[in-house]
Amino acid sequence: MYNSKIIGLGYYVPDNVVTNDDLTKFMETSDEWIQERTGIQQRRWAVEGGEDTTATMGVKAAKVAIERAGIDKDDIDFIVFATLSPDYYFPGPGVQVQKALDIKTVGALDIRNQCSGFVYGISVADQYIKSGMYKNVLVIGSELHSKGLDKTTRGRGVTVIFGDGAGAAVLSREEDTTKGILSTHLHSQGEHAEELSLMAPGMGKRWVSDILADNNPEDESYFPYMNGQFVFKNAVVRFSEVIMEGLMKNNLTKEDIDLLVPHQANLRISQFIQGKFRLNDDQVYNNIMTYGNTTAASIPIALTEAWEQGKVKAGDLVVLAAFGSGFTWGSVIIRW
Ligand code: UT7
Repeated sequence: MYNSKIIGLGYYVPDNVVTNDDLTKFMETSDEWIQERTGIQQRRWAVEGGEDTTATMGVKAAKVAIERAGIDKDDIDFIVFATLSPDYYFPGPGVQVQKALDIKTVGALDIRNQCSGFVYGISVADQYIKSGMYKNVLVIGSELHSKGLDKTTRGRGVTVIFGDGAGAAVLSREEDTTKGILSTHLHSQGEHAEELSLMAPGMGKRWVSDILADNNPEDESYFPYMNGQFVFKNAVVRFSEVIMEGLMKNNLTKEDIDLLVPHQANLRISQFIQGKFRLNDDQVYNNIMTYGNTTAASIPIALTEAWEQGKVKAGDLVVLAAFGSGFTWGSVIIRW
């Protein structure tokens, strides 16, 4: 048995900054409401008709991570791509990354676990490396939300939250099993699948032909729906549970945490968890203020920034935690 460790991190966000005041030009909202409820000040939204897509942003983040890992793209044994906003209905963007990076015929797996997608991806990569099956695995989380949001007042409860961007990590074999990823913890609760969802197009309820046939401007089924307060209440409970689960599994306590990088769902959620675990501001990394909620990309973007700022040092205990649509949630306990 081996451990896996993160040897390279990278991120990419579109240049186009959209402030809260910009949003007031096309929906009834305010900078005050958004900041008070979410902490978000601005987000990046790809320019309409521009080059940024979920796959191309993922590729840019991956290139940085691979370069920093100090390996060649041909050393990558497997690709894992997490997103809820793929370029195509199928195939998933994992193979697009493979093509763009000109990586031979290694496997490419697409993960559909929304805000928990990167944590699920890390867990998958970790198991492959632990078992000895692969040595280097590329894990990407990328989202292009902006094209799929309801940009009218009707959609404001969801639209103001989400931003575009991508993050990537290269995981590699670590022979010392006291270092690297110590454990991962995954959960889901399908009974709440519809509480944060996008129903169409989907074979179950409304396929493209149904939407075109109805041609109904009131149809909201192809915009994301979120029961915000219900999601919020579940998030604070599950985040706390799954961080605790990870600590207990490794005989650690909250005092051992050097850095918590939570999925950037809402600054109020991060602050609640910070208070619950009695962590100081330096022990929790948040960037939702500048990027909004980038779903599967939020943890790798935040982790990369934290690493770039020297907040992640050798020997540190780093905890990643996520909660989101599914519901799905999970944590990763890392000895850096
Ligand atoms: O990343 C995946 C996981 N996601 C989450 O964890 C998100 C969890 N939920 C949340 O973060 C919060 O529920 C939201 C930020 C989404 C919403 O905040 P809230 O405090 O739960 O607001 P609400 O949905 O209960 O809406 C309160 C009021 C409503 O007006 P009335 O009915 O009280 O008159 C909304 O219509 O705020 C109104 N509202 C807005 N007003 C201005 C909703 N969105 C907006 C907006 N601007 N953007």
